[in-house]
Amino acid sequence: MRIDIISVLPELMESPFKASILKRAVEKGLAEVHFHQLRDWSVGKHRQVDDEPYGGGAGMVMMIEPIDKCITDLKSQRDYDEVIYLTPDGETLSQKIANTLSIKQNLIFLCGHYKGIDQRVRDLHITREISIGDYVLTGGELAACVLADAVIRLLPGVLNDEQSALTDSFQDNLLSPPIYTRPSEYKGLKVPEILMSGNTKKIEDWLHEEAVRITQEKRPDILD
Ligand code: ADE
Repeated sequence: MRIDIISVLPELMESPFKASILKRAVEKGLAEVHFHQLRDWSVGKHRQVDDEPYGGGAGMVMMIEPIDKCITDLKSQRDYDEVIYLTPDGETLSQKIANTLSIKQNLIFLCGHYKGIDQRVRDLHITREISIGDYVLTGGELAACVLADAVIRLLPGVLNDEQSALTDSFQDNLLSPPIYTRPSEYKGLKVPEILMSGNTKKIEDWLHEEAVRITQEKRPDILD
C-alpha cells in the first residue's frame, strides 16, 4: 500500500512512522508513506496556500490551486483508490472504515488547516471525508497519522501474530476481554482460574462471555 499525505506541516507527521510497528511496516516495504509539502505547489513568490474567504468572516481558506496542482501531479503518476480529506465534518473513523481502506493500493490523505479548504477541491478531487472524532484539532496532520496507523497495522505481514488484528476490540463489534500475564497472583489479586486450566474450549467460551459482558457494560451501543 502507498499513502501520499499532503500538508503544510509534513514534519509534524514524521515520527510515528519512525518507530515500532509502523517503522517495520515501512522498512519491509509493506507500506510506503510519502509526505508532500503543499507549499511546493503554491503559485506566488510568498508560497501562499491560503486566502481570505469570499463573503467575509473569520479565518483563512486553503486555496484550490496548490491543492489541485499537487493532487493532479500525483494522479498523473498512478491511479488512486481514494482521495481522503481529514476534517471534523467527515464520517467518523471506525474499525470498519479502517478495514475497508486496508485493502486499497494507493491513497491520498489531504490535511486541512485554518478554516478548511475551498469547496471546489471537495467537488473536484475528494472521494471521502474522514473525522477522527467530534472535536477540532489544529489541523488534519494528527488525524492523518491516526488513520494511517489504523490502516497500516491491518496490512498482511505487519503484525507478527496475524491473529491479533482479528481479535482486536471492535473487529467483531465486541470489546476485548480482560487479559493477564505472570505472576498468577499479585498483592492478593488473582488471575481467573479458568485461564490457567489448559482447557482451550472453556477458555474460549469464557473469553467470549467476558467480551460480551464488558461490551454491555462499557459500550452497549456497539453490540449487534
Ligand atoms: N482536522 C481537525 N480536526 C479534525 C478531526 N477531528 N478529525 C479529522 N481531521 C481534523
